[in-house]
Amino acid sequence: YRRLRVALLGAGAVGSQVASLLRQHADELADRAGARLELIGIAVRDVDAPRDVDLPRELLTTDAESLIVGADIVIELMGGIEPARSHLLTAINSGADVVTANKALLATHGPEIFDAADQVGAEVYYEAAAAGAIPIIRPLRDSLAGDRVQRIMGIVNGTTNYILDRMDTEGAEFADVLADAQRLGYAEADPTADVEGYDAAQKAAILASLAFHTTVPLESVHREGITTIDKSMMDAARHAGYVIKLLAVCERLNGGADESISVRVYPALVDRAHPLASVHGANNAVFVQAEAAGNLMFYGAGAGGVQTASAVLGDVVSAARRHIAGGVGVGESTLANLPIVPIGRV
Ligand code: HSE
Repeated sequence: YRRLRVALLGAGAVGSQVASLLRQHADELADRAGARLELIGIAVRDVDAPRDVDLPRELLTTDAESLIVGADIVIELMGGIEPARSHLLTAINSGADVVTANKALLATHGPEIFDAADQVGAEVYYEAAAAGAIPIIRPLRDSLAGDRVQRIMGIVNGTTNYILDRMDTEGAEFADVLADAQRLGYAEADPTADVEGYDAAQKAAILASLAFHTTVPLESVHREGITTIDKSMMDAARHAGYVIKLLAVCERLNGGADESISVRVYPALVDRAHPLASVHGANNAVFVQAEAAGNLMFYGAGAGGVQTASAVLGDVVSAARRHIAGGVGVGESTLANLPIVPIGRV
């Protein structure tokens, strides 16, 4: 196999898992991608910082820019706007394809990054930027490209769903469960981003932009968080047959010449019979209503290092296949040739 040089920026909860899985599954990934994915370095702020996963020290560097210019694929998992934005632009302009999970960056500087990639024929992959492990970017961008999405209702923040779910099912208090969500690694470094709905608003902007084939600026997303929700509200909702969920709602309004869209994040009353009501813990779900396809629901882990790493690695394989195919097409994988048994068990 040909070798592709992969640079990783960031070794936090997701980055360290990506580094570990890249090495652990190197042979299988090579078969899938049609190229060996050689991790050439991991850019970090502090080489000596404690990490969840042991990473080879010789791969760690604080010099991100030098690492980037020698890479075919750059994975950005630093989060935040700068220096992530500059690094991605350097990567694109030096001919790399880029993979990012950076919802804050895409929701605020998406057009700049996509335009830069278009100009040089690079691709930006960001399946992990919304709803963690759940494949939702490609379905909206590709699978539903021939349909018209009418509405998306998403539980797109694991931390708030975890908090609201425990308040609902155990009568727990907000502050106690927030501390647990932080300990379990679901919450952002500053949990205000979760509980005030900023994280969900960023994801809503990304999903709405894809669903409606437009650019939805973050400023135009209405945002309310869950800090005002208390036990008495949860109880009242339950007695009336509802559960309170932080929803990201993206929808088309009116029709014809008056058509517009509304994108909003707020604690909503969800009927207990609706599939979104049974999304528990830190899981996410995205309920899509499309004109021809009807109702679709995408469900799974919306947060967590190894879960989100799955979406990142899928993007890395896609980027590698495209690279191998010379920038066009999807490339080819080597089939695993596994034995097939007549009756499986689930
Ligand atoms: N803090 C985010 C969440 C992580 O709780 O969903 C995934 O984006």
